[in-house]
Amino acid sequence: MTIRTYKGRRGRLTDRQLVALQDPALLRPEGSQLDLGELFTGRPITLEIGFGSGRRTADIAQAEPDRAFLVADVFTTGVADLMIAIRERNLNNIAVVHGDALVLLQERVPTAALHAVRTWFPDPWPKARHHKRRLINAANVALLADRCLPGAVWELATDDADYAQQMRQVIEQSPWWSGGRAERAARALTHYEERALQAGRTVTDLRYRRLAVT
Ligand SMILES: C[S@@+](CC[C@H](N)C(=O)[O-])C[C@H]1O[C@@H](n2cnc3c(N)ncnc32)[C@H](O)[C@@H]1O
Repeated sequence: MTIRTYKGRRGRLTDRQLVALQDPALLRPEGSQLDLGELFTGRPITLEIGFGSGRRTADIAQAEPDRAFLVADVFTTGVADLMIAIRERNLNNIAVVHGDALVLLQERVPTAALHAVRTWFPDPWPKARHHKRRLINAANVALLADRCLPGAVWELATDDADYAQQMRQVIEQSPWWSGGRAERAARALTHYEERALQAGRTVTDLRYRRLAVT
């Protein structure tokens, strides 16, 4: 049985959101391998896993037109809102996947295709019995290492101290990544982070570089 890293949540959608979800540019996570070079006309690719509301994702893509962003979430409202923002701003450097980023990585992203990965505030799953649902585990660390180019940068952030420790343990025990705790990356405040800070929680940033080992 597949263990899901996300909770099913779906609010009521507006007509506009429902139309946005029919956009032919929206990608499914399952299917044949993507030709990312063609899709993004050779621009270096950042994968964002779990963009949530997507509020910052469109801003970042707009601010960095020379980079490309492959972004995935299962959260239907966030996916719809991001598609609306992309169309409104006419962005051509962002591709949205509606579904599980792990399936996307397994089925559609070729080896050594990614220049950067962002997992900002993956669901913390704080209860011990739910830890198995956490996104960062040995298998997913290995999967990401395979899909990243040597030199690729992986940024992570969390407001859960126990998860931060687990992330460090599992990534730093693997042979592919070098790095550790980092200064807060020059990233926009995400929706989730804003709420975590308001609640008085402390955020940990981690940063790793993909080593040139197979
Ligand atoms: C805690 S929220 C953080 C969202 C956003 N990064 C932020 O900081 O506001 C985590 C997000 O990750 C998404 N997520 C969890 N597992 C995922 C997976 N395997 N593939 C895609 N998205 C996933 C959830 O749907 C949720 O929107």
